[in-house]
Amino acid sequence: MITVRGIDVRVGARLLLSGVDFHIAPGDRIGLVGRNGAGKTTLLKILAGAAAPAAGTVTRTGSVGHLAQDPRAADPA
Ligand SMILES: Nc1ncnc2c1ncn2[C@@H]1O[C@H](COP(=O)(O)OP(=O)(O)OP(=O)(O)O)[C@@H](O)[C@H]1O
Ligand SMILES: [Mg+2]
Repeated sequence: MITVRGIDVRVGARLLLSGVDFHIAPGDRIGLVGRNGAGKTTLLKILAGAAAPAAGTVTRTGSVGHLAQDPRAADPA
């Protein structure tokens, strides 16, 4: 279970997301869509705990698996 409250997502000087709230429950199947560079991968890294939001909180219950967009660049472990 993942609960997101009031997150801002920044890359450098760019604000990609502002004041975002949502909740993901066990069994949910969610498609995240957006144009290239909108911040989908950055948001997923934040949900997985691999990066921090510029503001707000992400609360995870249980373990969260994350397969990188480019698995060749990821730690195979
Ligand atoms: N390491 C980085 N250094 C600088 N800018 C970055 C870095 N990673 C991402 N960005 C920028 O942050 C923005 C969001 O990138 P992100 O990879 O999250 O987008 P995306 O929605 O996953 O795109 P795509 O559809 O191409 O996978 C883009 O403008 C990108 O250029
Ligand atoms: Mg991406």
